[in-house]
Parts: sequence; C-alpha cells; structure tokens
Amino acid sequence: MILALALGALAIAPAAEAAPVAKKKTRGHIVNGNFAQFTAPFNGAIPYQVGLVPVKNGQISKPYDVFCGGTIARSTMQHIVTAAHCVPDSNAADIAVVGNLLNRYDTPGFGPQERRVTAITSHPQFVSVEQGFDVAVLTLDAPLTAPAQWVNLGTTTPAAVGTSSWISGWGATQSGAQGSQQLLVATIRVMSATSCQAYGEDFRDTMLCAGEPLSAENAIDSCQGDSGGPLVSQTSPPRLIGVVSWGKGCGQTQFPGIYARISHPELNALASSTNLVPRAEPITGASVQGTPAAGQTLTCDPGQWNNHTGNFIFTWISAVKGADGKFTDVKGEPSGQTLALSAAHVGRVVGCAATSVGPGGARQSGAPLVTVGPPIAAAAPPAAPPVQIRGDLIAPTSRFTRRSCDRKSRTCSLTITATDSGGPATKAAVTYARISGCKKGKKGAKCRKAKTLKVKSRGKGVFTVTTPRLAPAKYRFTVIATDASGNRSKQTSVVLTVKRR
Ligand code: ARG
Repeated sequence: MILALALGALAIAPAAEAAPVAKKKTRGHIVNGNFAQFTAPFNGAIPYQVGLVPVKNGQISKPYDVFCGGTIARSTMQHIVTAAHCVPDSNAADIAVVGNLLNRYDTPGFGPQERRVTAITSHPQFVSVEQGFDVAVLTLDAPLTAPAQWVNLGTTTPAAVGTSSWISGWGATQSGAQGSQQLLVATIRVMSATSCQAYGEDFRDTMLCAGEPLSAENAIDSCQGDSGGPLVSQTSPPRLIGVVSWGKGCGQTQFPGIYARISHPELNALASSTNLVPRAEPITGASVQGTPAAGQTLTCDPGQWNNHTGNFIFTWISAVKGADGKFTDVKGEPSGQTLALSAAHVGRVVGCAATSVGPGGARQSGAPLVTVGPPIAAAAPPAAPPVQIRGDLIAPTSRFTRRSCDRKSRTCSLTITATDSGGPATKAAVTYARISGCKKGKKGAKCRKAKTLKVKSRGKGVFTVTTPRLAPAKYRFTVIATDASGNRSKQTSVVLTVKRR
C-alpha cells in the first residue's frame, strides 16, 4: 500500500520522461534500459519485482540464477504473478523466489529475501506463448516483507493505448545476450493491437502489445530472462497491466514486446484468485507399459501424481533414433491411452506423455522411449491336454487256424490267430457250446449253454485253447479278440464234432 501511494505520486512522471532515458541509447540494459539503482522513483530494488531462481538438491543457486521475473500483486505479499511459460515443467519445490533483489550477486542479509514456492497455479489453457494465456501464480511459504511491496493488479478495463509503463528485470540486454547482473528498468508505452500486426494471428486477445520505438530498427523492449516480470502502468495508483511473455527477437521496432494482458477477464481472474488450486505434479513419471513389438498394444501409465484432480490426456510420438542418438522422422501418433503397434513401427522408438489437465493448470509427464521390435513369434499353442489317444480305431480280426478233436481223449484243441493293425497285443475270449444231441426243453437249454475256455497266449497274436473231455456231439466254438486299444473283433465260429471211439 505504501508503495502504491508512493508510486502513485510519482506516476505523474510523464511518458515524456522516458524519452531522454531512451535517447541515451545505452546498451547493457533490459534493451535500452537503465539501472534500477539509479532510476527514479526506485533508486534501488523495484519493490514489487521478484526474481525466479532454480532450486537444485534443495539449494537455491548462488549467485542468483534468475531465469524469470515475477510480480508481488497481492496484499498477502505471498502470491507472485508470473508467466506460465516460466514454469511449464516445474514442481513447486524446484523454484524459489527472491524479493528485494537488485544485484544477482547480493546475498540475504544485504537485501534479498528468499522464499520457497509451495504451489504453482497456471492457466489451464496455457499451451505455448504463441497461444496465449501466459499467466501463472506462485504461492510462497511465507510473505515477503518491506521494503518489498505489492502493486495493484490491473482491472478488466484495458489500459489505454499510450499508457507509459515500467518494464524491469535481469534479462538479456540484447537478443541472444546473457542476462543482466543488475536489475534494469525502462519505460515503454502500451501500443494498439495493430502495432503488433506483424505477428499476424499469433497476436491474440489474451495479449498486449507494448514498446517504445527509438528508431526504425531500435526499440526499448524486454528480452529473454525478463519473462514473467511486470509491465506496470505509471498511473495513480500504478497497476500491473501485463506480464512479459514473448516477442520476435528483442528491441526490434517492427516487433514490439508481447505481454499477457491482465485486463483479459480470464487472466485477471487467475491473477486475482483467492482460491488458487495447485497444479498437479508428477511424482514417479509416466511410463510405457507392454511389449514393444509389432502387433502388440502399448499402454501409457501416467504414474503417480500429487494434486491430480482433472483428466489425463495421453499423446504418443514415434521417431527414428540414429546411431548418433539424434531423432529423425518424428511423428505424432494417434492420441489415447493405448497405442497399437504395426509393422511400420518396427525399428522406431515410441514414447508417450501424460498431461494432467485440471483447474490448477496443465502439467505433462513424459515417459522414457522404448524401441519397437519385430512381431513376436506366434506363441506355441498351449500343450494339448494329455488325451488318451486310442492306439488304433481298427478292430482286430481273429480266426481259427488249427482245430482238431481227439477221439481217444474226446478233447478238442484249437489255435486262434488274431491280427491287428495296432500290433499283436491282443486278448482272445473263446467259448464253446454243444449244438447237437441235447434233449428239448429245459434240460436241453442247459446242455446248449456256452462255456468259457481258458485261453493261453502263445505271443504274437496266437492263442490256444483245449476243452475238457466232452460228450460225443457237435460243438460250436466262437472267439472274439480284443486289441490293446479295446477294439473287439467280430465273432468267428467254427463247428467241431467229437466222435465216439
Ligand atoms: N520469452 C522471453 C523470456 O522467456 C521474453 C521475451 C520478451 N521478448 C520481447 N521482445 N519483449 O524471458
């Protein structure tokens, strides 16, 4: 608040005052900017400006490796408005914020205030700077304190064209140059959308065009490293009206700087939100599951996430990885959680990315690539269940090859030969029945009843039988052979006569 008033009083400083500054054409500044230290009304650190620095292994880099700027735009002193493109693949723990910073070599105790980021909330529609919505809000672990100060957030009423505004940061002083060690500041003016027409369709409704042409080729501009930093109107009170977003090169009159337009309702809502939803963060990282071979289907496993409340979008790419490790023929594959691999994928690498899209923004986690191999040889069909296959389905044949009855002993001896396709291992069942000289009636029936003979196997399908002593009469002998598979032969009969002596 103090700052807002102080700056408000100084905001009378007209745009005209920027001209002398610009005319110096001093290099070694934002691009044609000045040392904040020696520039009124700041004459030191810019109260609402912070630097974003990386945290590696829990440590904040020293000297401060400021990769982006940010703005304290809330009275909480704990919320930083920055550019979504500054923190696309960061987890909150990977970023720290330094307030009241002038020189990147300054150390805490001599001005700088270090704060850890506890949550990142980016605009859910942010994809790339050219597509706009380039705003994110960082929540800090503790408020920044004076002399750091907050600046009013611009309203949804667009800043008037021509409004003089400060840009500041530790960014490059020329396109392609290194960042500045000192905090630099410059005054530029809000320009009409037509002033950014050189960008064609890439200049959008969520963007604001601003700059200060010095000549046909030279302009005051923000540059690489200033991103996320403030565009603050020199009004009463001063307001954050833009966030450094992008541009073609730096300091080119034809291509003014492009800022996220805080008067856009959606961006204004995010920058002023009191209900910030933390963006999801991957914990384990995505991975490709399945066998990478033609004919197989791969699945993209998003892995574990924190704060994932929305949906996952899965995208796939394939490419050829050269012996030099370089990728060529990079192709997008159909999106979806699974990818069916065809012969065309063999020898290529494929990878997926899972993007968590939720109210706190979109965050992507890419899976390590896998190399696709040839189709897997058709798996051997499951071993056939041990079906008892019958040795053969053909019945044996049997016949009496020798037969004779001895008149003296009144016994008959018969030899049976059974042949079988499945081998000689056969059994033979031989019966005989008297078929003559039986009285009629009940007793006769008993007389004709078939009797079983004991069969002796002689091997190789040869069997012999011998009857007991028989009464003189005619007898019918029958044989049925059975093979190893249980096939039974037809019944074969022969009639022998036992004669009286
Ligand atoms: N994208 C740059 C960054 O990441 C900011 C570029 C601003 N460019 C410009 N011409 N205004 O720091």
